[in-house]
Amino acid sequence: MQTELTIENKQSTDIEINGDNVVIEIEHLQKSFGEKEVLKDINLTLHKGENLVVLGRSGQGKSVAIQCVVGLLDYDSGSLKVFGKEIQELDDEELKDIRLKLGFLFQSGALYDSMTVRENLSFPLTRVLKMKDENEATRNVEDVLEAVGLKDAIDKMPSDLSGGMRKRIGLARTLILKPEIMLYDEPTTGLDPITSREISQLIIDLRKKYQTSSIIITHDMACAKITGDRIMVLNDGKFIAEGSYEDLEKSQNELVRSFFK
Ligand SMILES: Nc1ncnc2c1ncn2[C@@H]1O[C@H](COP(=O)(O)OP(=O)(O)OP(=O)(O)O)[C@@H](O)[C@H]1O
Ligand SMILES: [Mg+2]
Repeated sequence: MQTELTIENKQSTDIEINGDNVVIEIEHLQKSFGEKEVLKDINLTLHKGENLVVLGRSGQGKSVAIQCVVGLLDYDSGSLKVFGKEIQELDDEELKDIRLKLGFLFQSGALYDSMTVRENLSFPLTRVLKMKDENEATRNVEDVLEAVGLKDAIDKMPSDLSGGMRKRIGLARTLILKPEIMLYDEPTTGLDPITSREISQLIIDLRKKYQTSSIIITHDMACAKITGDRIMVLNDGKFIAEGSYEDLEKSQNELVRSFFK
């Protein structure tokens, strides 16, 4: 059965939704693995400063879509532009530049277990930004730890941290490169409801502090409610609904409503 995309009333936000402030534009994106069509017709626009939540059941292609955005997976057809540039047409150097502006919090969010928090966070500075000044690196590490509320953890090992703290450090490691766009793949998975709420609130606070635009992939409805200016529902390779949390909760589409139960 073909389902048309239903656009529900948009929640009022202070984000300007117009053609001039688009940071990601995806049109008719398709991606298959062998015979398996995962992304059939993906259309999505992310505006500057916006928090866009993508909901979808397991295996619907959410992580695949986000990996196409960062150039980790090739797409078969359609268009995927980040800051106006078609990702698949970029050479290595151009892709590297775009990736510097993209922060990706992986679903697994792994830290290096043999390194302290400080070393984990300094790593992208020395490796990606080629930062040599140790004091400058420390200042950056402290700033970002403060932003995620874990200043005291600087000399801890990852194994000494709780799941929620590790998520925060993973987030800090992504933020330390000051990305303009954040891509969160299941930021609250595996956390208890209270810690999940704290991480969701942190996503909001970080947007304010760093003026990032974000795509947040989640099945955690509390996270969707807290973080999402706009929510899109992915099913069977396409988006089937779009709107605010309150609008989608009242959707005519049963599958959309089922997320809210
Ligand atoms: N590299 C790959 N090679 C082959 N198939 C893949 C690859 N990556 C993903 N898939 C398949 O694509 C489909 C979508 O996977 P994806 O990881 O995007 O789902 P998801 O929506 O993120 O699910 P979840 O909510 O469980 O994380 C799955 O059927 C998966 O097996
Ligand atoms: Mg996934």
